[in-house]
Amino acid sequence: MDYVRWAERYDIFYEAAPEGELEFYLNAIDRSAGSVLELGVGTGRIAIPAAIMGHDVVGVDLNRPMLDRARQKLGDAPIVGSIELIEADMCKLDLVKKDFDLVTIPAHTLALVTDAESQLEALKRCALHMAPDAMCIFNLFYPSDDLINGEPDEKFLLGVIEGDEPGIRHVLTGINDFDTATPTNHCTQIIETLDSRGQLVDREELRVEFRYLHHEQVLYLLDKAGLRLIEAFGDFDGSQLDSESEEMIYVCRLA
Ligand SMILES: C[S@@+](CC[C@H](N)C(=O)[O-])C[C@H]1O[C@@H](n2cnc3c(N)ncnc32)[C@H](O)[C@@H]1O
Repeated sequence: MDYVRWAERYDIFYEAAPEGELEFYLNAIDRSAGSVLELGVGTGRIAIPAAIMGHDVVGVDLNRPMLDRARQKLGDAPIVGSIELIEADMCKLDLVKKDFDLVTIPAHTLALVTDAESQLEALKRCALHMAPDAMCIFNLFYPSDDLINGEPDEKFLLGVIEGDEPGIRHVLTGINDFDTATPTNHCTQIIETLDSRGQLVDREELRVEFRYLHHEQVLYLLDKAGLRLIEAFGDFDGSQLDSESEEMIYVCRLA
């Protein structure tokens, strides 16, 4: 995965993030009213507004270009709380501070960890960094039969985002290629930038591998990681998790 060019475009791509996701995490951070650890912090899409709201956030990411972009965005942002960005692998994380009030893994990032043992290790690292009454919240995409058995290589539209300059539009698309044996989605995320005449002026794509999980597998991993499920939602509006869901959102405490 080449995050160097992608980091500049990440925030454009995530304008098409699932509705309510940002608010869901910011509300959870507000309710926790304590220190927050975000694993896979990326460009600070959630962490920076949280720190502006007055929270103390530590963000961890494996990819330096993403952290560089977050630092650039931080610039002279009116931070009221604090924000610390650390380059590290969430599966090996061992910070001095082990009493965060909230640990999050937003935006399907646990699925970017592409082997089963490491996914378990990531959840163990969440538990390791939680205060006794802390929460851990993460979300994954729901691997419905329709989704995982869908036509490979079929391009689907994620959204069209107005650019900062007049007439500029970013067309966000994706191509899934599920391998149910591994089980991995070899996904391509594409941003095409068009000018006011509809001419292509920029194109960037990122190949991403997601090791997807079914709900029962998540429950198994939580148990092994020493986490206890409090609630599972199927949408950021708090709807229940069922076979129609597009998201799997987990709220956990230490077992
Ligand atoms: C989908 S982005 C999410 C970024 C941010 N949490 C958000 O919601 O906008 C996933 C991020 O996780 C990072 N990442 C992937 N695997 C990681 C790992 N093992 N440890 C730490 N970060 C990782 C990637 O570099 C990327 O920045």
